[in-house]
Amino acid sequence: MAAWVSAAAAFLLLFLLQPPGGGGLSSSASQGLRRPPAKIGVIGAGIGGTSAAYFLRQKFGRDVQIDVFEKGEVGGRLATLNVEGKYYEAGGTIIHPLNLHMKHFVKELGLSVSAIQDGLRGFYSGEELVFEESGWYIWNFLKLLWHYGLNALRMYLWEEEILDKFMRIYRYQSHDYAFSTSEALLHALGGSDFLQRLNQTMDESMQRAGFSQKFINEIVTPVMRYNYGQGASINGFVGVVALTGTDPGLWSIEGGNKRACSGLLEASKAQLTPGTVLSVEGKTRQEGRSGGAVKFYEVMYNSATGLTSDSYDIIVIATPLHPKIANIAFHNIKPSIPGFSRPYEPIVTTFIHGQINASLFGYKDPSQFTLSDVFTMENPNAFFYSLSVVSPVQNTTDPFLGSHVWKAFSAESLTKEQLTLLFASYDAVEEKKWLAYPHYSPPEKCPPVILHDHMYYLNSIECVASAMEMSAISAKNVALLAYHRWYNKVDMIDQEDLHERLKTEL
Ligand SMILES: Cc1cc2nc3c(=O)[nH]c(=O)nc-3n(C[C@H](O)[C@H](O)[C@H](O)COP(=O)(O)OP(=O)(O)OC[C@H]3O[C@@H](n4cnc5c(N)ncnc54)[C@H](O)[C@@H]3O)c2cc1C
Ligand SMILES: *[C@@H]1O[C@H](CO)[C@@H](O)[C@H](O)[C@H]1NC(C)=O
Ligand SMILES: *[C@@H]1O[C@H](CO)[C@@H](O)[C@H](O)[C@H]1NC(C)=O
Ligand SMILES: *[C@@H]1O[C@H](CO)[C@@H](O)[C@H](O)[C@H]1NC(C)=O
Repeated sequence: MAAWVSAAAAFLLLFLLQPPGGGGLSSSASQGLRRPPAKIGVIGAGIGGTSAAYFLRQKFGRDVQIDVFEKGEVGGRLATLNVEGKYYEAGGTIIHPLNLHMKHFVKELGLSVSAIQDGLRGFYSGEELVFEESGWYIWNFLKLLWHYGLNALRMYLWEEEILDKFMRIYRYQSHDYAFSTSEALLHALGGSDFLQRLNQTMDESMQRAGFSQKFINEIVTPVMRYNYGQGASINGFVGVVALTGTDPGLWSIEGGNKRACSGLLEASKAQLTPGTVLSVEGKTRQEGRSGGAVKFYEVMYNSATGLTSDSYDIIVIATPLHPKIANIAFHNIKPSIPGFSRPYEPIVTTFIHGQINASLFGYKDPSQFTLSDVFTMENPNAFFYSLSVVSPVQNTTDPFLGSHVWKAFSAESLTKEQLTLLFASYDAVEEKKWLAYPHYSPPEKCPPVILHDHMYYLNSIECVASAMEMSAISAKNVALLAYHRWYNKVDMIDQEDLHERLKTEL
């Protein structure tokens, strides 16, 4: 009797557990009524757009057509610059050892990584070096203690605790859970503490956690300036992301980070459409004998062959919607899409092949100057954010003899006077200008991820933090969100207590 009951129960269970569309009667409600999308349009072929194409392919299968529009170079803010015949990362450079999507791409695409050398760092006030590392680990530790008490050690633990929570995203995403806003995503990782970070400056957030103002001004602020061209007034979440940019074990992709983008495009079997998207228009057509109205989007773009348009069921916008970056008009979209006024930070990357002016940093003997990074405090004299010795993206073990190639970040182009102050001598100078990342000024209100029924804004995530991995995380989120919304799987969106629930699930 008992055996019969359990056998029947098992059978029933098996029947109920049939995946939708997998046969039986179960396929009607959720998925069966919805046709798969025929075409998906992705605007932008940076790491966001190309990884979106990759994840969209994974979710929607091989039959959907995916077109990726790009007005410039594949890679976007991942780009290299030629300095005396070698190529250097001019945009997004460092990848953290715990950036799991980027790691996965490298493996999946058969690319290689190159480690970013851990050099010695100095912190410059605009007048003098207020702190500098030395090659001897114990001595560094004692010096940090002497200058800043336990601040440095505590910061490491503090950062690690936040990073630990952040890592939850990979588990949620591997279980296919999606979030409808950037705030909901952040909340699922670290609750109201994480959300609060968007409304506080890094300075406030660290003061509340008990860090000294001296430590924040002399160490934290220069790291913020190096990574985001802004001081500790940036929000307390992106601030922590910036801190992780000084962790050990950082890496880049050999041959250039942008190789991930071309690799992802190829792996996704998406079609690259060179051209500038001018507008997206909401449209409706009648379909089938029943005459049901089907909504779609018409994308108008300028390409080598002139003005063209194409229709899509789903649109992913994978570029900042900033009038100077992507001036895309939206027509017949209700409710209408708000204008996004968030300013982007102008950053100039300059490569200088030369001998640094060691005396500027208090060294009489240039051969004693062994720092490979100089980060600057907020000071009118500090007209640059940072100076770092860099290696080319290829043949990294073949350094220039004697002098180095330095990479400077600054708000404006470095003048000849500034260059001759910073360098005792130099030959090559190359620069690249960016609208690099958002200007952060908490409290932050993130732009929507869902712009319309089936139109998504991947770069909403940049209000939380702008980084390659953040774009990849947002790309996967948008692919999952687009999928669940297409097939009405509302139970996969914005679920509460995921962390607790997934603890017991395997
Ligand atoms: C100087 C600098 C240093 C950085 N350092 C780091 C770092 O060390 N580590 C890190 O993780 N991140 C870093 N970042 C940030 C990182 O590079 C970005 O967050 C990331 O590359 C953004 O990728 P994305 O695909 O979202 O956007 P983008 O790379 O900007 O891609 C958007 C693409 O859309 C295209 N596009 C725009 N409008 C249209 C249109 N109308 N039609 C067609 N195409 C259009 C653009 O040409 C572009 O290629 C840095 C950024 C800069 C600028
Ligand atoms: C943060 O500030 C925004 C904008 O002022 C506000 O809408 C939001 O509720 C605030 N969030 C928290 C967690 O305080
Ligand atoms: C180097 O820095 C010093 C200031 O310490 C400055 O006087 C000098 O002009 C700079 N340039 C060179 C080439 O030495
Ligand atoms: C790197 O070095 C190899 C051989 O050592 C050479 O063939 C190749 O051209 C170099 N690449 C670049 C970009 O300099």
